[in-house]
Amino acid sequence: MDFLELAKSRYSVRSFQEKKVSKEEIDRLLQIAHLAPTGCNLQPQRILVIEEETALTKLKECTKSHFDAPLAMLICYHKGEGWTRRYDGAISAPVDCSIVTTHIMLGAWEMGIGSCWVMSFNPEKMRESFQIPTELEPVALLVMGYPNEDSVPNPRHEEVRPLEEVVSYNSF
Ligand SMILES: Cc1cc2nc3c(=O)[nH]c(=O)nc-3n(C[C@H](O)[C@H](O)[C@H](O)COP(=O)(O)O)c2cc1C
Repeated sequence: MDFLELAKSRYSVRSFQEKKVSKEEIDRLLQIAHLAPTGCNLQPQRILVIEEETALTKLKECTKSHFDAPLAMLICYHKGEGWTRRYDGAISAPVDCSIVTTHIMLGAWEMGIGSCWVMSFNPEKMRESFQIPTELEPVALLVMGYPNEDSVPNPRHEEVRPLEEVVSYNSF
């Protein structure tokens, strides 16, 4: 699919079929994730694949926004591994995780797999439920699966600001 068409057609899916995403498809998504660029190529990301029923049940205690998806990925970073800007101490790791998440989201859509990026989760509950060590910081949860036939974009999907409002040339 043409990339612009892919980006245009993608929307946050919040209604999923029960059908499982196959091991081969998960492997392909992880390969796509693995190709994401990161600051100084330090690759601080750690990806937790949540696909067993018991793990999916635990996930439901960590967020209301699970949408009964048959698959989820939690993208975290290792606090000791990302790149730090020396001028002000800004760190690239959360940005790196966002790029990884976006790669998976768009790669999945190209495979017919829908997803919703979820930030509204309880990080402490997530830590406890999935034994996330203190050196890892969870950034993004992607809940994923095949969209239900009645799945439609949320009305907010259409609320796109005019390009002129978000783009400036040469100076703000
Ligand atoms: C960083 C980030 C956090 C988000 N967190 C949530 C969330 O917790 N729950 C949810 O239902 N959607 C969440 N979303 C999805 C957004 O609401 C959605 O992307 C936005 O409304 C645009 O709609 P669209 O993805 O259908 O184009 C999140 C998206 C992003 C990028």
